[in-house]
Amino acid sequence: DDEYLFQLGGFWHLPQLIHGVHGVINHFQPLPSDIILASFPKTGTTWLKALLYSIVNRSSKHRLTVENPHSLIPILEYNTYGTTHASATAIPPSDTNHSRRILSTHIPYQLLAKTLDSSECRVVYVTRNPKDTLVSTWHFVNKWARAKEERWPFQVAVEKFCRGLIPSGPYYDHVMGYRNLSLDRPKYAHFLTYEELKNDPKTHVEKLAEFLGYPFEGEDVDAQVEEIVNGCSFEVLSNHEVNKAEGFPARRGLPSNSFFRKGVVGDYEAYMSAEVVDKIDALTKEKFHSFGFIYGV
Ligand code: A3P
Repeated sequence: DDEYLFQLGGFWHLPQLIHGVHGVINHFQPLPSDIILASFPKTGTTWLKALLYSIVNRSSKHRLTVENPHSLIPILEYNTYGTTHASATAIPPSDTNHSRRILSTHIPYQLLAKTLDSSECRVVYVTRNPKDTLVSTWHFVNKWARAKEERWPFQVAVEKFCRGLIPSGPYYDHVMGYRNLSLDRPKYAHFLTYEELKNDPKTHVEKLAEFLGYPFEGEDVDAQVEEIVNGCSFEVLSNHEVNKAEGFPARRGLPSNSFFRKGVVGDYEAYMSAEVVDKIDALTKEKFHSFGFIYGV
């Protein structure tokens, strides 16, 4: 509920996370080998977790069939690590065969600039067009509303989104922060969109693998890439028993299946009037296009 959001450094945070966010900002020191997946909520975090895990741990990607991506890759600020420990060694490598950790965060770049600019860790940022992000957020919030009165009317969600009053918001500042990082430090930060990944997953999985230092090799590169793309597709991932569970506490008690809804581009059309589309598009042009980032309309 946004009545209870906390403001920190120009962004809004859930009260139960403010301690963790503080801990990460003040104490987290990435290892040079760390891979950090950053994202605004509902923009493809779960998908990227599965893909990064598969790219880094080729031999043990089968773990995705029995573990939820959120169990494999912790969100820094949700982890008790962020709240109490100053040691970066508190989180083990993401797989016992490999020395690199994959971590994720929803904290905006603006609050992590000091942490990330001084590190050689790799940052992958995924984003998604604002209209689908909003629709996905609206569904996610309403899925957990206990009573009908607690449900978020769509019009209210639109207002809140546009004013930036949602967890990790404002969306636009979040996206631009990491986009600028990727332009300034391309060797260390890779920016991609849900739509381009959906449109051409193989090309983008190859790019991700190269960026992270795990290029595909051999005569069957195509088959290797395809196997990862298929293993992480919405259809395959969302049909594993572990990801269908209503009661499985993947993250903060949120059932695993709350991270899989529809997984398509352009679902907003089913929910938004022409007027709402115009309103958001105008904002997107002001916040993205006028800064040279032609995206999201
Ligand atoms: P929808 O609500 O539009 O379906 P996040 O992981 O950042 O919370 O984002 C969740 C969104 O990503 C949801 O969008 C979800 O369905 C979608 N998603 C989850 N896994 C996916 C996958 N493997 N491929 C494509 N989209 C996926």
